[in-house]
Formats: sequence, structure tokens, C-alpha cells
Amino acid sequence: MTIDWAALRAAAADVAGRAYAPYSRLRVGAAGLTGDGRVVTGCNVENASFGLSLCAECGLVSALHAAPSATPGGSATQLVAVAVVAGDGDPLLPCGRCRQLLLEAGGPALLVDTPVGPVPLTELLPAAFDDGDLTSRSQPPPHQPDGGSQL
Ligand code: THU
Repeated sequence: MTIDWAALRAAAADVAGRAYAPYSRLRVGAAGLTGDGRVVTGCNVENASFGLSLCAECGLVSALHAAPSATPGGSATQLVAVAVVAGDGDPLLPCGRCRQLLLEAGGPALLVDTPVGPVPLTELLPAAFDDGDLTSRSQPPPHQPDGGSQL
């Protein structure tokens, strides 16, 4: 699939203009190209209770899953490329939490724009924890002789 990085950056800059960031004054926009060729976007939304603020990538991932899809879990709900920019239109590197969110939405090969150009997400989040760790390392629940609580 051809990735129009200029268009992706422009979409991110556009949505950054609608960010709600009265506290940090840092507007952020994120635009992602889906596996079926659509562009989804998100902006940061802050809150007077600072810790509740939502990063732009959170909005992007929510939009990714919120869009109607013929095949939930298919290419329509997977990202192949992401551009994140600040209000000045220049690339902004995703925070650590958002790198983890993007990993779930696009996998380690997801291309992420950076100030030096697009790089695979695995370069920004090496040795990541992922769903494979859950599958291989989680344990069955402890035995409960009385059948356990019904709650
Ligand atoms: N922010 C994002 O939207 N994405 C990031 O990856 C880094 C930080 C936002 C959150 C907050 O509204 C503002 O930038 C300052 O941290």
C-alpha cells in the first residue's frame, strides 16, 4: 500500500487544530492509515484533573475501533502508518503509553512518523510487552474447593 505521508501529516495537523488543550497549551493531532486505506484521526483532550487528559493517539485508536467495519478485527481495525504532530505541524514522538496503544493497533511493523522520517514502531518500543506474553505466561485461576464466590 502506498503511504501518502504528506496527506497523513496534514490530517494530523488539521485535527490538532481542534484539540482541547487549555492547560498544557500543547495541541496534538494524530492521523492513522488503516489496513483498508482509510484515514482516522484523534486529538488530545485535557481535563482540569490533569491526570485524566487523553492523548491524541487515544482518540485515534478509539476512532479506529468505533468506525463501522464489515470485519471487526480485520484490516479495517489495524493501523499501517501513523503521523503525530503538535500544533506547529511538526512530528511529535508518541509518549510511552501511546506507543503501547499503537502496538496493539498496528503491531511492531507499524510505521510511525518521526522528525527523521517514518520508522517501524519496534524501533520506538523495543522488547515490548504484548498479547503473546499474556497467552504464554498467564496461569489458570487458583483451585477453589467450595466453588468460589458467585459474585
Ligand atoms: N500528548 C499527546 O496527545 N500525545 C502524546 O504522545 C504526548 C502528549 C498530549 C497530552 C497532553 O494533553 C499534552 O500533550 C501535554 O502532555
